[in-house]
Amino acid sequence: MNILVTGGAGFIASHLIDRLLDEGHRVVAIDNLSLGRKSNIAHHFDNPDFVFAEGDVLDAELFDGLFKKTAFDMVFHLAANSDIARSHANPEIDLNMTYLTTFRVVDAMRRFGVKKLVFASTSAIYGDAHGIEVNENYGPLLPLSHYGACKLASEGIIASFCENYGMQAFIVRFPNVCGERTTHGILHDFVKKLKKNPDELEVLGNGKQAKPYLYVKDLVDAILFVVRNSKDKVNFYNLGVEGNTPVWRIAEMVIQSMKLNARIRYTGGDRGWVGDVPQFRYNLDKIHNLGWRASLTSDEAVQKAIDYILENDLCSL
Ligand SMILES: NC(=O)c1ccc[n+]([C@@H]2O[C@H](COP(=O)([O-])OP(=O)(O)OC[C@H]3O[C@@H](n4cnc5c(N)ncnc54)[C@H](O)[C@@H]3O)[C@@H](O)[C@H]2O)c1
Repeated sequence: MNILVTGGAGFIASHLIDRLLDEGHRVVAIDNLSLGRKSNIAHHFDNPDFVFAEGDVLDAELFDGLFKKTAFDMVFHLAANSDIARSHANPEIDLNMTYLTTFRVVDAMRRFGVKKLVFASTSAIYGDAHGIEVNENYGPLLPLSHYGACKLASEGIIASFCENYGMQAFIVRFPNVCGERTTHGILHDFVKKLKKNPDELEVLGNGKQAKPYLYVKDLVDAILFVVRNSKDKVNFYNLGVEGNTPVWRIAEMVIQSMKLNARIRYTGGDRGWVGDVPQFRYNLDKIHNLGWRASLTSDEAVQKAIDYILENDLCSL
């Protein structure tokens, strides 16, 4: 198949591209490198089945050009603002990077007759469910972050495009994702802080915030499993792993992996930053019943990411 991957130089998309090329597909990846890294995909640059277009999904001429050049069978839309906290100060970041990119993707698909879309959605669309295990029918959907709101709006526009123009969508809602090539987030923050001050780690909140962390290769496996096995017009799934990893344990794992004796200082309060969802639990019955389960636990996924960050010295000062 000819496949377009948006946000292709990003953490998750780069693993997806590894898998798609392995399976014999031809892949075009677009990324403006605002958050992603060329090094994530550089190992494919001499593969004739891979094309990297450095540029913005919102650059109409460049983006349309990709569709004019290649008759895509399918689009995986992963370009977005993945740094949730930063749009608190500037909500337009998510309007443009998270919502408008989605609109431009589905509209280009409509105009060029591409029928299949995979969309990287998120647990952030559910807002704060106060520790209730959320399944796909949970509501009302009241996101806490602009990022979650713009992902929810994206799901809406995808659904209406499917209805109006005969497209099929696979909306996959990721939890926190961990593993090799991770670009940002709590693990990077902790490693950076400890490099600056190896005696003390400041942790935002009370450390009891707890979320499931899914291993990135398990996630890619789940996405492709859904595409192959789910047949509705608009397919939507929570993807995740059972159990979770609390922030206090992440802090201890990072300190131990760096072979330090740092004390942990909690700033207090039940959440780390405005827009954070402190406790999150997915109900995974729908994806389990389809026949897929994660291979690594949440703690194992976190440890893989810590090892990668430390081995690659990604947080040098
Ligand atoms: N990592 C997670 O824990 C997580 C959880 C839930 C959902 N997601 C979603 O999965 C997708 C991938 O996330 P990730 O963690 O790999 O993040 P990432 O930042 O590594 O990847 C996103 C990529 O999109 C690119 N991009 C952003 N705006 C663009 C634009 N206008 N044009 C072209 N490229 C653009 C960035 O440069 C980046 O390479 C995102 O849609 C994200 O919202 C991620």
